[in-house]
Amino acid sequence: MKPFCCLLLLHVLLLVTSSEHSDYYSMAPNEAEACYNILEAINAAVPWRALHPDNLCLFGPHGLNCDVDDNNVLHVAEFSLGWVAENDNNPGCGRNATISPSFGKLPYLRKLFFFDCFTEREVEIDPVIWELGASLQHLVFMHNSALVGEIPREMSNLIHLERLVLVDNGLKGVIPAEIGSLKDLNQLVLSGNKLTGHIPEELGRLQRLKMLDLNGNMLSGSIPTSLIKVSKLEKLDLSSNALTGSIPSDIGELSLLQLLDISHNNLSGSIPSSCGKLTQLRIMQLSSNNFLSELPHSIWGNLTLLSGLGLSHAGLQGRIPLSLGHLTVLNYLDLSSNKLDGMVPFTLGHLPQIYQINLSDNALVGLLPFSVDFVTRLGRNLQFKGNEGLCVSSNWLLSSELGDAVEGLQVCDSEYWAASSEQEASLTEQLLTQAGGWHVSQSGILLTTSIGFAFVFAFGNQPL
Ligand SMILES: *[C@@H]1O[C@H](CO)[C@@H](O)[C@H](O)[C@H]1NC(C)=O
Ligand SMILES: *[C@@H]1O[C@H](CO)[C@@H](O)[C@H](O)[C@H]1NC(C)=O
Ligand SMILES: *[C@@H]1O[C@H](CO)[C@@H](O)[C@H](O)[C@H]1NC(C)=O
Ligand SMILES: *[C@@H]1O[C@H](CO)[C@@H](O)[C@H](O)[C@H]1NC(C)=O
Repeated sequence: MKPFCCLLLLHVLLLVTSSEHSDYYSMAPNEAEACYNILEAINAAVPWRALHPDNLCLFGPHGLNCDVDDNNVLHVAEFSLGWVAENDNNPGCGRNATISPSFGKLPYLRKLFFFDCFTEREVEIDPVIWELGASLQHLVFMHNSALVGEIPREMSNLIHLERLVLVDNGLKGVIPAEIGSLKDLNQLVLSGNKLTGHIPEELGRLQRLKMLDLNGNMLSGSIPTSLIKVSKLEKLDLSSNALTGSIPSDIGELSLLQLLDISHNNLSGSIPSSCGKLTQLRIMQLSSNNFLSELPHSIWGNLTLLSGLGLSHAGLQGRIPLSLGHLTVLNYLDLSSNKLDGMVPFTLGHLPQIYQINLSDNALVGLLPFSVDFVTRLGRNLQFKGNEGLCVSSNWLLSSELGDAVEGLQVCDSEYWAASSEQEASLTEQLLTQAGGWHVSQSGILLTTSIGFAFVFAFGNQPL
């Protein structure tokens, strides 16, 4: 064989392999065309084809990510549209942005994300999106005020959906009961739309759901009792709707719940005693409802992780439970604008992590049982205006640290002490009869404190 021939052959071979190599990760051509259509639909002013002429999976805009299949063909797997932040430069949407039906040609799409994209021209979610059931796992539309229309029943075709996040859009209509068939769903967030109707019972079938957030809609009817079957739920936010009826009495079954926000509704009835089983609860926000009942006394002992408790404008009556003193990591307590009466329990002044207490606009009476140190520490975050019968100890007035804060406050004189000793007696009774409550008396606390001091005294100076 002549060397020339061999060289030529080698050359041809090299050509073949290198062209094979450049095609090694090729992009499915119909998907590439679909991507251009999608990009042109969100912003026709950008010359997408000229900016990204080659393999969009490898050289396309930020926000477009692909998977590779067994034949080394690239398929669009994630598409994020609309700017999120300066350093996360997804393709920006123009004023006339629309949703291209070409999404129907991306059968491998797993994640679809639209942020701040449809804000002027009204757009509905194209029905082809609901046909991506074979692949779609995350569907997110956030901050698209001109995204209108309803969530159709056909959304239940998205059988692999794990996240359905439709936040702060202009969606109307009811929540389709068919959502209950999306077995893999672990986040369902439909907050900040104009959804109406009831919360479907069928949501109780979502056994993987960890987050249910329907806040800021116009949902009516009651909280479905079926929700207590969603045993993985960690965050339940139904706030700012028009819900009525009472809190399901078995809500304590949601043993993993960390956030319970049902504020700004028109819920009535009482706060169920089963709440005492919500041992993982961090935030309990029940403000602005119409409970017209007393605060339970026995539920607080297990809520050792609770850091925020919002109960303002909630129609609460009766006494503030002493047992709130169990909430050792509580830093926010709002009891304002209720009809709470009786004395303020001294235990509130011993909450070690407390940062803000609002007792304003109630019918509380007697001595505010807080030390000057405590009042100084909370400053303006301690509020108790609008309780005619409250008075303060004269040593608050002597304290220069309190300054203006004490202006205009009643000082408890001996007459007041006499009147309030009756209240104190009933408080003590309350304290001794509470189930799972605080089993020490005020002097018990003092005793514990002095033992603590003695300990410090005895061991504090020793090199340990
Ligand atoms: C948006 O569409 C309108 C009418 O279809 C057109 O007049 C306008 O120029 C378009 N604006 C942009 C920014 O494309
Ligand atoms: C809330 O419910 C009560 C009855 O429980 C009703 O009288 C009141 O009008 C309702 N308020 C609103 C704002 O719907
Ligand atoms: C505290 O939690 C335990 C274990 O979950 C439960 O048995 C008990 O009833 C709870 N206490 C209250 C007051 O709910
Ligand atoms: C305390 O509650 C009152 C009455 O609800 C309210 O006007 C005030 O703004 C609250 N203070 C703080 C600091 O939230």
